[in-house]
Amino acid sequence: MASENACVKCASGSEDAIVHVDCVTHRYPDGTEGIHNMCFRVFPKEIVALCGPNGAGKSTLIEHINGLMLPDVGRVRIFGKDIDKWNVSEIRKSVGLVFQDADSQLFSPTVLDDVMFGPLNLGLSPEEARKRAEWALGIVGIKETTKIPHYLSGGQQRLVAIAGVLAMNPKILVVDEPTGDLDPSNAIRIEGLLRSLRDEHGISIVIALHDMDMAARLADRVCIVKGGSIMAEGRPEDILYDEQLLRSAGLELPDVARLYRDLGLEARGEKRVRSLDEIVAILKRE
Ligand SMILES: Nc1ncnc2c1ncn2[C@@H]1O[C@H](COP(=O)(O)OP(=O)(O)OP(=O)(O)O)[C@@H](O)[C@H]1O
Ligand SMILES: [Mg+2]
Repeated sequence: MASENACVKCASGSEDAIVHVDCVTHRYPDGTEGIHNMCFRVFPKEIVALCGPNGAGKSTLIEHINGLMLPDVGRVRIFGKDIDKWNVSEIRKSVGLVFQDADSQLFSPTVLDDVMFGPLNLGLSPEEARKRAEWALGIVGIKETTKIPHYLSGGQQRLVAIAGVLAMNPKILVVDEPTGDLDPSNAIRIEGLLRSLRDEHGISIVIALHDMDMAARLADRVCIVKGGSIMAEGRPEDILYDEQLLRSAGLELPDVARLYRDLGLEARGEKRVRSLDEIVAILKRE
């Protein structure tokens, strides 16, 4: 149903959205508008990448999706329910958020305590919470369970923060720049994990990314964020191949699109690809 805030875009096709950021403006205390008239939706079982330059509004948008920030104008609806200050803790049970700054997410005396905190808060018994935490830490590959979280490296802290959110079994996962400080093998592990959460658990994922190649490989839909709004959205094969659009947003073509263009693959009738592996496969066929 269209709300009183809904613009034309928000009013149509939003019935199936499990996240609906409906024409939201957020002003920080110093008067800066972090997002302006932002319309954004997430549908079941999709991975949506938010790509945009520094200061575009990605983190501000993301922090509205689990009620960490509330709109000044507009509304945010999760599974059809408006977020307000009374139901925000309920909403956080279904929306897991991994911050851009993992350090700020960790506060318990040990890694295991930290990851158990969420499940305990959900009301699970200590045994159940421990089981969930060990499962989540196993998935992200962290073995240092008795260590003080702040003594871990930046990348390890990021993995613990992801485990902490996974342990809560969210229906929607929101991750802000998860791989910036990860080494290549951990970045690939997290990419695979996100894909399997969608494919095997039906979780919808919103991910802010500066890595355009990861966006090309992972996203079902890409939203280009600029100046606090979504300036374009669509399939990676369309959005991430549009050099003019990306340039106007202060972004660059992903390597995969640049190679596709430079190798003249379009002229050879090859369909647009989303990973370097697909380019290699085309070249090997020759
Ligand atoms: N606490 C704050 N107080 C005032 N302005 C803020 C605050 N946090 C962010 N902003 C401003 O809000 C706008 C959006 O910032 P935001 O952090 O959402 O961008 P971003 O797209 O996540 O950038 P990045 O890629 O650098 O993480 C920017 O103009 C930023 O300067
Ligand atoms: Mg940010």
